[in-house]
Amino acid sequence: MNPLLKRLQPYPFERLRQLHADVTPNPAYRPISLGIGEPKHATPDLIKTALRDSLAGLAAYPATAGEPKLRQAMADWMQHRYALALDPATQILPVNGSREALFALAQTVIDPTQPEATVVCPNPFYQIYEGAALLAGAQTWFAPSDPARNFAVNWDSVPDAVWARTQLLFVCSPGNPTGAVMGLDEWKLLFELSDKYGFVIASDECYSEIYFRDEPPLGGLQAAARLGRPDFKNLIALTSLSKRSNVPGLRSGFVAGDAALIKPFLLYRTYHGSAMSPVVQSASIAAWNDEQHVVENRAMYREKFAKVTPMLSAVMDVALPDAGFYLWAQIPEQFKGSDTAFSRELLGFYNVVVLPGSYLAREAQGRNPGAGRIRMALVAPTAECVEAADRIVQFIQSTAKSP
Ligand SMILES: Cc1ncc(COP(=O)(O)O)c(C=O)c1O
Repeated sequence: MNPLLKRLQPYPFERLRQLHADVTPNPAYRPISLGIGEPKHATPDLIKTALRDSLAGLAAYPATAGEPKLRQAMADWMQHRYALALDPATQILPVNGSREALFALAQTVIDPTQPEATVVCPNPFYQIYEGAALLAGAQTWFAPSDPARNFAVNWDSVPDAVWARTQLLFVCSPGNPTGAVMGLDEWKLLFELSDKYGFVIASDECYSEIYFRDEPPLGGLQAAARLGRPDFKNLIALTSLSKRSNVPGLRSGFVAGDAALIKPFLLYRTYHGSAMSPVVQSASIAAWNDEQHVVENRAMYREKFAKVTPMLSAVMDVALPDAGFYLWAQIPEQFKGSDTAFSRELLGFYNVVVLPGSYLAREAQGRNPGAGRIRMALVAPTAECVEAADRIVQFIQSTAKSP
């Protein structure tokens, strides 16, 4: 067996299942889960129709690079969204969702023969970054997000000696679970570090279309272009239809950026067998070419967050994020920092599932920056999220009263 498999940690939802295994949810309430970040708004009809209309594609093997018209649709979207003119032949590649692409990219760029090959990740973070690094034969270094700076990651906390052995940096903007969006200054710093130490930046942008500020989140490639880096040196952005178009089961996204990275990535993917089904390609073209459903989807999240956030901020430290579909809240004092106790008791008394923040982060430099927090995914319909918020308010108020 591959010995590196032993280094993988249990996935947060497995840990959550174990945490809740002996809790009996209060049967007086119907169950509501804010645990898993799976989009739940309806899949647009235009995507379902495109899928049905392209079933003939099942009769052919697809090319790993995807159909030219698919890459053109992706390039058109990048033009429309970020005012970037990318070459669809060399700077764009379809992927089967950003999860597999994050993983595969690490396998492509990491050289495990170099001493102490390192991957730097934000903390808390999307768990695939860690697994991708470990299975590529690298070690991880975690940089904490800072609640005092709207959860911006504290990159200054990474020692020079660590940057010197770093081969890959994962960034997530908008962030999961914090919702924080990286600004141009932060990108400038990271590009300078990448130039100095030679590492690749993988920019995970799968929440880019769900935002609450007027201005859409800055993309990594957009930041590079603004900072005079038109070749996107050492930068790959990953994006996805899962959240944008409510198709987590379609498994469709793309990577874009440095052509010198896309080329070996295509080679890796050809051997790995990561071509996108022709049927999924057709549905993806329809999805990337339509913006109306994205506007409507965003409006639904805005309405939901506008209702739920003030309810919860009255009883706990939580604020409207820049973007994404999570609330990243600090638990009240009476729980003495135990996010797991909060999650268990809330399920027991009010039949609502929330994810302990400590499960989304690692203890690093003596501290788990997710501890004492919970993540709430507002993916269910608005009425259900409002009902969950109402129960959380009651729960917190009742526990505050107990001696
Ligand atoms: C931060 C982040 N990146 C990537 C993904 C993967 O999404 P997909 O593979 O559906 O594109 C997720 C899914 O929840 C996520 O939260």
